[in-house]
Amino acid sequence: MSRPIAVIGGTGQEGMGLAFRWAQAGETVIIGSRDAMRALAAATKIKERIGTHAKVSGQTNAAACAATDLIVLTVPFETQSALLTQLKSSIKPGSIVIDATVPLASSVGGKAVRTLGVWQGSAAQQAAELLPKEVAVVAAFHNLSSELLNADDPVDCDVIVCSDHTDAIPVVQGLAAKIPGVRALSGGRLENARIVEQITAVLIGMNIRHKGHSGIRITGLPDSAYKTSKG
Ligand SMILES: NC(=O)c1ccc[n+]([C@@H]2O[C@H](COP(=O)([O-])OP(=O)(O)OC[C@H]3O[C@@H](n4cnc5c(N)ncnc54)[C@H](OP(=O)(O)O)[C@@H]3O)[C@@H](O)[C@H]2O)c1
Repeated sequence: MSRPIAVIGGTGQEGMGLAFRWAQAGETVIIGSRDAMRALAAATKIKERIGTHAKVSGQTNAAACAATDLIVLTVPFETQSALLTQLKSSIKPGSIVIDATVPLASSVGGKAVRTLGVWQGSAAQQAAELLPKEVAVVAAFHNLSSELLNADDPVDCDVIVCSDHTDAIPVVQGLAAKIPGVRALSGGRLENARIVEQITAVLIGMNIRHKGHSGIRITGLPDSAYKTSKG
């Protein structure tokens, strides 16, 4: 049986989109929020869309973290460090924490087409510094548009997965591949999250210029490099 997926900040655009896709794929999803009622309302919304059989519930962020060892963080960059500091004691050693945070300059009143310099190198590395070494921080989902996730069509985008915990990479690739249309690839060490996070700012700029919802595709690798819903 697959383990529940806790989506912290799961009431937001990106978190709701991921939660919707995973619930649709039959996964057990716990939506986390600062407010349990808001989490419950988000879970109800997903059930209304998929059907009452959907295994989706809503809890506070801390309760959601405590309920599983597979956690996805989808909160704005400016809230990431304070929230992780607060949730640290609810995250079990051995957990996987998947960070989708993009350090957009809009976090500090700047433009969403620019990123901020993060002292640790990336938002994901900042998360890794804040959490115990026994927690596997994995960077993923930065380039997946919430607009596409919340729609019904397959998502035309690849997901690059980076971590220093090599055992966690295939787990997260498997999770990404549950989203129709997505192919998941290992992007190597967590330090590469710096580059993947920055691609999002370029995609946002292209979305504004061309009025669309862009994604990325990585080409030229053998089939074995790509994890898809077919294997
Ligand atoms: N939107 C996208 O297309 C997209 C794509 C890729 C990556 N991302 C990244 O994913 C993250 C979330 O993006 P989003 O667009 O989903 O953001 P969002 O909708 O603005 O916010 C997500 C959730 O964060 C929680 N939150 C807000 N302020 C908080 C605070 N001070 N402390 C704790 N939690 C707080 C809120 O949940 P509660 O109020 O219920 O607690 C909110 O629903 C960002 O880092 C973004 O860069 C977004």
